[in-house]
Amino acid sequence: MKMKKFLAVLMTVVMGGSLVACGSSDTDQSTNSNSSSNSNSDSNSNADSNSNSDTKSGDKKTVGIAMPTKSLERWNRDGEYLEAQFKAAGYDVELKYSDNDTNQQNNDIQGMIADGVDLLLIAAIDGNTLSQTLAEAKDANIPVIAYDRLIMNTDAVSYYVSFDNYTVGKLQGQYVIDELKLDSEKGPFNIEFTAGDPADNNAGYFFNGAYETLESYIKEGKLVIPSGKKTFEQVATPSWSTDNALENMQNTLASYYSDGTILDVALCSNDSTALGVAQAIKSDYTGGNAPIVTGQDGDIANLKNIVDGRQSMTVYKNVNDEAGVTLEVSKAILSGETPDAGLISSLSAEATYDTESYDNGVKTVPSYLLVPYVITKDNLDVLVDTGLYKWDSDNKYLESTASTT
Ligand code: BGC
Repeated sequence: MKMKKFLAVLMTVVMGGSLVACGSSDTDQSTNSNSSSNSNSDSNSNADSNSNSDTKSGDKKTVGIAMPTKSLERWNRDGEYLEAQFKAAGYDVELKYSDNDTNQQNNDIQGMIADGVDLLLIAAIDGNTLSQTLAEAKDANIPVIAYDRLIMNTDAVSYYVSFDNYTVGKLQGQYVIDELKLDSEKGPFNIEFTAGDPADNNAGYFFNGAYETLESYIKEGKLVIPSGKKTFEQVATPSWSTDNALENMQNTLASYYSDGTILDVALCSNDSTALGVAQAIKSDYTGGNAPIVTGQDGDIANLKNIVDGRQSMTVYKNVNDEAGVTLEVSKAILSGETPDAGLISSLSAEATYDTESYDNGVKTVPSYLLVPYVITKDNLDVLVDTGLYKWDSDNKYLESTASTT
């Protein structure tokens, strides 16, 4: 805990107090604008930001960080926290965002390999498209850590650092069980699912965690899915796009709820999709109730919706801690060690070491999995305690303390 606080304070110092909040309107987060990412990547090389480091600039190791897109809020935070923590630990950083474009991500990673980075951290846009590029990394003896999303079909990935993705979905399902008191109430209650991007290996874990937690209630008829859409493929949202989620929900509402059918739950896998679904409910839902809407990430626009009663919960994953665990794993690899379960006790955040769950088709990738938890309007202060959020001047909504979100 002490270390966590220290990291939060460190982040605040490193970020130099440029506290810009984002998502001040409902629609700010609603598009995949694929905004240009070059501004971040150019300024990151050869930075010499750490006066505490006793590593001479010339001896510094460089870490290449490939993030998917700036158009989804969380990756801006991931990029910022990773960069700050690695620089503070004495590394140079090359950070690229690839506009949710798999070709661009392959090119960006190839560029980092050509630049001779010492380690690659990759949050894949599409976990299935990097095999060839990572074979090149392997040939160049560059170790690869899959960051947050597993990279499939390659033996070049050494470790996976993420959260317990199945538990994210379970927490969403359990929230619904508790809120609707499914063990004592008769129901039936109506539910619709919105899942994530099929290209993202995490998306299936989130959906399955939620669906399997609720499955027995669906089977006994206490939970009903009026649209009948109950497989991942039927409810997936390409690119995790808010606009796609909005449109899908509008179609579902028009087809199955325009006769006054009540929607009790919109189970959304994450915040970018929950934003679109909440928007569709606001504009197109005619029932008088406020359906339960779930989410994941703690995006600023969603936290606003939680305060305003338009979203019920978000599963929070502290990505500053995820960056911290990634740093520890990276440090061990870069000093020639082979990190294993022994690293857990020295980590600043709670995590488990898992050598069974994440099979990428070629190998089971050893994984460090952090712990997600539920945030509702009743415990928003838990987010403030992380040092990554603060109340706005009216003490009404939360703002991010990161400079990029
Ligand atoms: C991440 C989620 C995020 C989603 C969309 C997933 O891989 O684990 O936290 O909401 O991508 O960015």
